Amino acid sequence: MTARHLFVTTALPYANGPFHIGHIMEYIQADIWVRFQRMRGARVHFVGADDAHGAPIMIAAEKAGKSPREFVAEIAAGRRQYLDGFRIAFDHWHSTDSPENTELSQSIYVALREQGLIDVRPVDQFFDPVKGMFLPDRYIKGECPKCGAQDQYGDACEVCSTVYSPTDLKNPYSALSGAVPELRTSEHYFFRLSDPRCADFLLRWTGENDRHGQPRLQPEVLAKAREWLGDGSAPDEPGAAGEGRLADWDISRDAPYFGIEIPGAPGKYFYVWLDAPIGYLASLKAYCAKTGIDFDALVEDPTLEQVHFIGKDIIYFHVLFWPAMLHFAGRKTPERINVHGFITVSGEKMSKSRGTGISPLRYLELGMNPEWLRYYIAAKLNSHVEDVDFNPDDFVARVNADLVGKLVNIASRCAGFIVKRFDARLGPIDGEAHQAFAAGWAGADAVAALYDGRDYGKAIREIMAYADRVNEYIDSRKPWELAKNPENAGALHRVCSTALRAFADLVLLLAPVLPATAERAGAMLRMPSTEWAAIGQPLPEGHEIEPYKHLMTRVDPKQLDALFELPESATDADTASADAGAGAGAKAGKGKKGGIASAGSAQSVGDGFIGIDEFSRVDLRVARILACETVEGSDKLLRLTLDVGEERPRNVFSGIRSAYAPEQLVGRYAIVVANLAPRKMKFGVSEGMVLSAGWDDPARGTGLFLLDVHEGAEPGMKIS
Ligand code: MSP
Ligand code: ZN
Repeated sequence: MTARHLFVTTALPYANGPFHIGHIMEYIQADIWVRFQRMRGARVHFVGADDAHGAPIMIAAEKAGKSPREFVAEIAAGRRQYLDGFRIAFDHWHSTDSPENTELSQSIYVALREQGLIDVRPVDQFFDPVKGMFLPDRYIKGECPKCGAQDQYGDACEVCSTVYSPTDLKNPYSALSGAVPELRTSEHYFFRLSDPRCADFLLRWTGENDRHGQPRLQPEVLAKAREWLGDGSAPDEPGAAGEGRLADWDISRDAPYFGIEIPGAPGKYFYVWLDAPIGYLASLKAYCAKTGIDFDALVEDPTLEQVHFIGKDIIYFHVLFWPAMLHFAGRKTPERINVHGFITVSGEKMSKSRGTGISPLRYLELGMNPEWLRYYIAAKLNSHVEDVDFNPDDFVARVNADLVGKLVNIASRCAGFIVKRFDARLGPIDGEAHQAFAAGWAGADAVAALYDGRDYGKAIREIMAYADRVNEYIDSRKPWELAKNPENAGALHRVCSTALRAFADLVLLLAPVLPATAERAGAMLRMPSTEWAAIGQPLPEGHEIEPYKHLMTRVDPKQLDALFELPESATDADTASADAGAGAGAKAGKGKKGGIASAGSAQSVGDGFIGIDEFSRVDLRVARILACETVEGSDKLLRLTLDVGEERPRNVFSGIRSAYAPEQLVGRYAIVVANLAPRKMKFGVSEGMVLSAGWDDPARGTGLFLLDVHEGAEPGMKIS
C-alpha cells in the first residue's frame, strides 16, 4: 500500500472567545488521528484557523471598544498556549480574515455565478435605525406571537418553543440599541441550492464511499443528510425547504458587516458561513506558502484526501453547502467528514454563559498533565456521533489505573534491574511468554484499523489488554523476588527484558495519544524507530537502555477539586451568613480580603501576586443605581437595582446597610463585578457585587465606603 496523502482540518472556532473544552476535545480527536497516520508513513497537512467574520464578532468587538480586527487578533494571540499545552500538532493556524481567504472566497463565488447558481432577490428584514444596520435574528427581541412571553429572541420562543421569524414578533425591539426596528428591503445574493443539479450531486456524494471503500459519512450523518435532501422533514434547519428539496441559501449580508466583499456587489458581504469553510483552503494555502509547496497543484492532486473533523452541530454546513460549493466551483470535494458528539461535564451540557465545564487553561495552569486528558478522551471516543462525558472521579480512576498502574508500572518494575544488574543491556527473550502476550490481545493491525476508524475507545481497550498480560507475567515471575538470589540472575534478566520489549510495543501503540510520554519512554529505551511498523519487532539482545526516568505521576484528586472550584471563591460567601454574601464591604467587615483578591484565588501566580490575565478575568463595570431599598428580614443588606448598560437592570444585594440609607444611593454610580456567578440568596438572586472600601481589621473601624467614578462615566463602561 502506498503511503496516504492527507489534508486534515478541525472546525474553525469562532474568534469571539478563548477555546473551551469542546474545542480541545475536537483537536485531541483529530490530533490522535493525524499522529497515527504519520506513524504509518502518511504525508499529512494538518491545519486550523480562526473563524473571524460575522455579526456577533463585530458586535462583541464594538462592545469591547475595539475594531473587529483588533478584537480577533487578541483572540488569535491566545491560541498558541492551548495548542502547545495539549500537544496539538497543527502545521499551521490561520484566520478567515486573511488575503488568502478573500481571494479564494471571491473566486469560488465567481465560479458559482458562472455556473448560473447565484440569484439576487429582495429580502425584507429588520433594520436598526440607531445602529444603522440590518439586525441578525438573534439581535431582535419582542413578545412571542403565540404565548405573549416578553423579551423573546427573533427565531423562537424560549417559553412555548414556537419557531417563527423575527417579523412575527409583537412589539419588536433591537437588542443592540433598544430602538424599534424598521422593516426595510434590500437585495440579497443566494446560492441556488434548489437547482436540481445540486440535489442530484448531493444525493450521490453523501451516499458514496471514500477511496478506501468506507462510507464518506457515518451512518447517522448520512441519515440526517437524507432527511434534509430526501423528504425535507427538517423545516427548522437553515436552508431546508421542507419540500424534499433544498431551499436557496442566502449568502449575503449588507454593510456594515465584518466579512469579505462580494465581487461586483458594492456594500454586500459574504455571510460568514460562506467564507468560513473556504478558510480551510486559505489556511492550507498560507501553510503551502510557508513551506514552499505549490498550493494549486496540491489541491488538485488526486492522491490528496481532504478530511474534516467537526462537531454534530455543524453537519448541515459540511455535508450540504460545503461540498456543493466546492463541486460547482470545479474543485475537489472532501473525502470524508468525521463528526463527533459533544463533551458534557458530569452529565451536564457545557454552557459558555453559565461558565460550567472545565477551563482548559485552568487545567494547564494547575500543572495537570495534558496527556491524562488526551488519554481519558481517547478512551471514551468511538466512531459514532455520541456525546462524551467527563466525569472527575472516573477521570482520576481511569488515568491512575491505566497509565500509572498498568503502563508505567511495567517499566518502573523492570528497567532498574536491567540497568543496575545487567549493564543496562537487554537479555534473551522469553519466547513462550512473548507468544502468550500476542494471544492476549487483538494485535497491532487490529488496533491500527481501530485508530483509523476513530474507534479510539476500543483501541485503548485492546492496548490495555496487552498491558494486562504483561503485568500478569511480571506478577507471576516476581522479578523483585528473583533479584534476591544471585542464582536467579538469568531468569531475572529474561523476565525484565521480555517485559521491557512489550513495554516498547505499548509505547508505540499509545504514541498517537501520549506523544510526550512516548518520546520520553522511547529515549529511555533507546527505541530505534517511532514508526508503527516497529511494533512487534522486539529490541535485540544486548540492546542498551538508559536509566529509568520517571514517566508519569498519578492524578491527585485534589487537582480535580481545584479544576472545578468556581473562579470566585463561592465558599467564602456561602459560609458567611446569607446577608453577607453579596457585598465586598460585608466581606471586608468579616476580616476577609476584598472581592478582587478572592476572585480566582485558585490560580494565583504565587507569592501573593496575581497575573494580569487573572485580574482581567474580573469584569468590572460602571453601574448606575436606579433604585435602592432595605431588605425585609436583614439588617445588613440593601437591595440595589443597577443599570449596567444592559437590556435589563440587575438586582444586587449588598451588605452596606450600616453605611448608607437607601435614598442616599439612588442616582449614584457604583462599580460592579459583572461576571460574578449569580447567587441565590434567601431574598432573591444577586446578580453581581458592588465594591466598597473598608478596613480588613475591624479594630481599625467598621466604616464602609462605596466605590464611585468621576463624572462622565456611563453605565456599562468597562474598568481596567
Ligand atoms: N465557526 C464555526 C465552525 C466553522 S467551520 C468552517 C463554529 N465554531 S465553534 O467555535 O462554535 O465550534 C467549533 C467546533 O467546536 C465545532 O466543531 C463544534 O461542534 C465544536 N464544539 C463546540 N462545543 C462542543 C462541545 N461541547 N463538545 C465537543 N465539541 C464542541 O461552529
Ligand atoms: Zn411563546
